[in-house]
Amino acid sequence: MDSKLYVTYNDIHKAVRKLAREIEESGFDPDVIVAIGSGGFIPARIMKTFINRPIFAVGISYYGIDNKPSGVPQKIQWIDEVEKKLAGKKVLLIDEVDDTRATLSYCVSELLRHQPREIAVLVIHNKKKKKNADFPAEIQRYFPAVEVGDQWIKYPWDADDIEMHDAKNKSMEENRV
Ligand code: G4P
Ligand code: MG
Repeated sequence: MDSKLYVTYNDIHKAVRKLAREIEESGFDPDVIVAIGSGGFIPARIMKTFINRPIFAVGISYYGIDNKPSGVPQKIQWIDEVEKKLAGKKVLLIDEVDDTRATLSYCVSELLRHQPREIAVLVIHNKKKKKNADFPAEIQRYFPAVEVGDQWIKYPWDADDIEMHDAKNKSMEENRV
C-alpha cells in the first residue's frame, strides 16, 4: 500500500477553519498574515476567509531558484518594501508543513529582525520527529492543525490528476483500521 498521506483541498479547508477557531479562542488577534511560499499560499488564502487580514507573501525554499537542493533555506522572494510595516504588528505566519523546521525557523528569525510585536506560527501538518532547528524563544504561540508521523504528505496543489489524488485519499481512509 502507498504509505504517503494524501490530503484533499477539503481537508486543508477544514484544518484551516479549525485553526481559525483555535486562534480566536486563544485571544490572538493578528494584524497581518505572512504566507511562506509556496506551500503556505493556499492555506493563507483560506485563512483570510476566516480571519480577514492582509496577506504578505515571502518565498523561502530549500530548493533554490534553479530547483536544486541548496542545503540551507534561501530567500526566493522577500518582502523588502513591506517588511518595515511589520514593526509593532501581530503576525500570523502560515506554512503547510513543519518538517525539519529549518525553513520555518529561518523565516521566523528573519521576520523578527523587523520588530513585530508578536509572531504566531501556523502549519497544517506537524511531523512528529526530531527537528533540525528550534523556534526562537520569542515564539510563544504555535498552531499545528494535524500531528502526523514522519511520512510524505501529498498536497492537492502538487497533483497532476486531482481526481486520482482524491481517489487515493479515499482509499487511504477506507484502508485505515
Ligand atoms: P520546514 O521548516 O517547514 O520544516 O521545512 P523544511 O525545510 O524541512 O522542508 C523542506 C521542503 O520540503 C519544504 O518545501 C517543505 O514544504 C517540503 N516538505 C517537507 N515535508 C514535506 C511533505 O511531507 N510533503 C511535501 N509535499 N513537501 C514537504 P520548500 O522548499 O519550502 O518549498 P515549497 O514546496 O513550499 O515551495
Ligand atoms: Mg513549504
